[in-house]
Amino acid sequence: MLSKKVEAALNAQIRVEAESSQVYLSMASWAEVKGLEGIAQFLYRHSDEERMHMLKMVKYVNERGGHALVSDLAAPATDFGSFQKLFQELFDHEIMVSECINNLVHVTLEEKDYATHNFLQWYVAEQIEEEALARTILDKINLIGNDKGGLYLFDRDIQQLSVDSAASGTGPA
Ligand code: FEO
Repeated sequence: MLSKKVEAALNAQIRVEAESSQVYLSMASWAEVKGLEGIAQFLYRHSDEERMHMLKMVKYVNERGGHALVSDLAAPATDFGSFQKLFQELFDHEIMVSECINNLVHVTLEEKDYATHNFLQWYVAEQIEEEALARTILDKINLIGNDKGGLYLFDRDIQQLSVDSAASGTGPA
């Protein structure tokens, strides 16, 4: 059984994951309209992954005798300026999510909820991979600079980039 404190903290994280999904969906739509097809596909997939993170937590809360809440979400931005700025924002967003997960883990220790602590280790590992992926992308963007040919190749290659490929270092060059 979840304590009220852990339940509330998990519900707050459910909201963070749902908002992440919305942010990446909005980024995907912006990129698609700009003709950045590969980037858009990558972001649509990333949005789906965040929804999966949310659902996994919803099911856990309900399984443990809590009530997972679906709350209002903040509206995401609709204009991201440039693809460089967009990926910087994505990186910053993932750093923020990692902090939220860390705080959540801290609550489970305070509450001596070792089952939830264990459940959250998946998210801790996932955040390491997501940060690594975002960093890999920013490195690639720095290499491209303002080169149009480089952007063309980046937009093509990013479709194959995923959390798995970044973590194992086997993503496209
Ligand atoms: Fe579910 Fe990207 O954090």
